[in-house]
Amino acid sequence: MAHKSRLIYLKKSFNGRNPMVRKGVSRFGVSVPFRLLLEFDRKIKRMGYDRSKAIQIAMRDFLTEYSWKMNEMGLAIGTMTLLYDHKTKGLEEELTEVQHAYRSIVNSAMHVHLDERNCLLVIVVKGKIRLIRKVAEELMGRRGVKQIKLTTVMS
Ligand code: NI
Repeated sequence: MAHKSRLIYLKKSFNGRNPMVRKGVSRFGVSVPFRLLLEFDRKIKRMGYDRSKAIQIAMRDFLTEYSWKMNEMGLAIGTMTLLYDHKTKGLEEELTEVQHAYRSIVNSAMHVHLDERNCLLVIVVKGKIRLIRKVAEELMGRRGVKQIKLTTVMS
């Protein structure tokens, strides 16, 4: 009986102006393998998060990742991180050319000289996912480019 009245209360608060609902907080229960939860708890404790905060971050990451993969028409903000060999002939010029060609989505770039050969280039991208992916694909195929990583955030 108490359970039933609680449900009615929840329904009412969704329709009414309950501040908790307006803030958009929902509680839910999930079932996960014990070992996964154990590792999760151990890691988040070290990072200083509680479960709610950590799950929110994980959900946001999931949604970002999902829209990145599925939504060709969408917009994204993020970084493109490249590891490359700066001694590869013509590569730095090519990297600069691509950035100029796609200047509508390339906002800024940072170059770090890692060692004798390797450079790290971090490009901040903002715009159509379709274009961001095109830039990544153009850079990926270049000789001397060792690794490309795309990171997006939700705005
Ligand atoms: Ni360098």
